[in-house]
Amino acid sequence: MCMVIFAPLFAIFAFATCGGYSGGLRLSVDCVNKTESNLSIDIAFAYPFRLHQVTFEVPTCEGKERQKLALTGDSSSSAEFFVTVAVFAFLYSLAATVVYIFFQNKYRENNRGPLIDFIVTVVFSFLWLVGSSAWAKGLSDVKVATDPKEVLLLLSACKQPSNKCMAVHSPVMSSLNTSVVFGFLNFILWAGNIWFVFKETGWHSSGQRYLSDPMEKHSRSYNQGGYNQDSYGSSGGYGQQVGPSSDEFGQQPSGPTSFTNQI
Ligand SMILES: *[C@@H]1O[C@H](CO)[C@@H](O)[C@H](O)[C@H]1NC(C)=O
Ligand SMILES: *[C@@H]1O[C@H](CO)[C@@H](O)[C@H](O)[C@H]1NC(C)=O
Repeated sequence: MCMVIFAPLFAIFAFATCGGYSGGLRLSVDCVNKTESNLSIDIAFAYPFRLHQVTFEVPTCEGKERQKLALTGDSSSSAEFFVTVAVFAFLYSLAATVVYIFFQNKYRENNRGPLIDFIVTVVFSFLWLVGSSAWAKGLSDVKVATDPKEVLLLLSACKQPSNKCMAVHSPVMSSLNTSVVFGFLNFILWAGNIWFVFKETGWHSSGQRYLSDPMEKHSRSYNQGGYNQDSYGSSGGYGQQVGPSSDEFGQQPSGPTSFTNQI
């Protein structure tokens, strides 16, 4: 039940800290000819971190001419993927909470609720892992691309030692670091919940009751219950899954037999 409280909350933290981000850095270029200097060049950027589209102008320290520059890199795909996973995980966990609390009977009917819940939980665990890893990589790219010292390397004025180029301030990254931490926390939360949802499916107890090899039993019921039955493809998939669980019960006599054989 801890899932019920924490999953929507953790998902909100993950997408709010990443999707709501905006930050900036400031440079100063102090030319030999002071009238050409600009001591506060502000560069702002935000989610979804299409940094190559963030343009800014800097003095060249050669007359009135200015240099037009852009930051480097594009972390939008990993950032958007991460936020999308977080939003859908939020919506699903909210819906699952409502179903679990108010439609307990429907949830248990034909074992369909636990089965869907199990599959979706496995899928979301995987998506959280992939999304958080990708976004962690994306964030490290963002950090390099928005490091004022790295940006100063792009300025032609700063190649002249007589001009003084300085990093005034760096972007604040704490909320983005938080989003990565919450991404992995969400992965742990969802992956840990696989076990509890798995128990709800009843596969676990039917495996134990007959004391057959639990691993074999579980892998067999995976094959029958979820994956071979094409649960994603055909719309009849969920209906068909009702069958396999009865299949499984049909096979259960083999459990005790093998148990006595082993003795
Ligand atoms: C310095 O650069 C900023 C952009 O970061 C610009 O808005 C400002 O007008 C510039 N100042 C001068 C004196 O050119
Ligand atoms: C400094 O720059 C201004 C404007 O670009 C120019 O008029 C002036 O001649 C420059 N001074 C020197 C010493 O280069």
